[in-house]
Amino acid sequence: MGKKMISVLLASMVGLMTVGCASDGQAVTEIGGNETKSASASTTIKIAFNQSESHPQYKTLTEFGEKLETETDGAYEVEIYPNALLGDQRATIELVQNGSIQMSIVGNPLVENYNKDFAVIGLPYVYDSQEHQKAVFQSDILDELFASTAGEGFQTVAAFTAGARNIYADKPITTPEDLKGYKVRVMESDTMVNMLNLMGGVGTPMAQSEVYTAIQQGVLEGGENNEITYVDLKHYEVAPYFSYTQHLMVPDLLIMNTDLLNSMSKEHREVFDKLVDEAVEVEFKLWEEEVQTAKQIAEQNGTTFVDVDIKPFQENCLPLHESVTSQSDTTKALYDEVRKLSK
Ligand code: GCU
Repeated sequence: MGKKMISVLLASMVGLMTVGCASDGQAVTEIGGNETKSASASTTIKIAFNQSESHPQYKTLTEFGEKLETETDGAYEVEIYPNALLGDQRATIELVQNGSIQMSIVGNPLVENYNKDFAVIGLPYVYDSQEHQKAVFQSDILDELFASTAGEGFQTVAAFTAGARNIYADKPITTPEDLKGYKVRVMESDTMVNMLNLMGGVGTPMAQSEVYTAIQQGVLEGGENNEITYVDLKHYEVAPYFSYTQHLMVPDLLIMNTDLLNSMSKEHREVFDKLVDEAVEVEFKLWEEEVQTAKQIAEQNGTTFVDVDIKPFQENCLPLHESVTSQSDTTKALYDEVRKLSK
């Protein structure tokens, strides 16, 4: 059975489960033959996640779910589906849109396909540091952007860090020339393809789950990602040189079904917003800790980490800043605001 088929089946299973167990309002229970109204039934929030249970974002979501359940007196409960069980990120956006599931974590480039303005916060070298990125995510400058896809049935409720992305391949990559003719997998958006081409290689969009085999079979020469995902997916087995190009700090977006978000009472929404803010704080902290562990594991498995002078790559990517910011007044203003928070 093809992977697509499996995820379609899983999606419909989740759909059925949703009908079976998630409901708003009052549950009616039979006690001793009399119909009695019990306390409000719980609404189940199913979250799709494309990485493993050891990932910092999984841990963050688990804690978030537990607190949400407690602090809403059981009105909401959270179920997380890790390891891309519900399909690749692109497919899970559709599940959130149609309400089969309620939330997902997806990379910024995938949401960019719904509103091109998202490209601004996923530009190469747009953040100077983790602190800069955190300041942007914790400010309110992204509120409008995040709400902009509401008409499509989903919106972003928070942005998490996914560290810095670097190129890995069968050889060290220290200059744009090293990438000549190299097909490197990128996340699925035009900005990502253009970026990799400007960096000197051949940007090849693909879902994350297909990368290992594609490198192994020589369809790709390499990939680009953070240390945690590189280790989680054992990409060190097929691409043992990890070169610190640090070209991207792409946000991972926590997206949610719009109707569900709008159906929350004022009180529950306040709790939800507070817990989401806390989750961002927790995730940044966990990321910092766990990236070190991932590096050690990669080294034990034979990875060579390579330092890179990033300037030539940075300069090569500047035309992309130009083309994205000149898209509209909105992208220009957003870009300026993001950059302003760099100090
Ligand atoms: C990172 C990111 C994921 C994304 C993945 C990818 O791991 O955290 O959200 O799916 O990169 O390259 O597709």
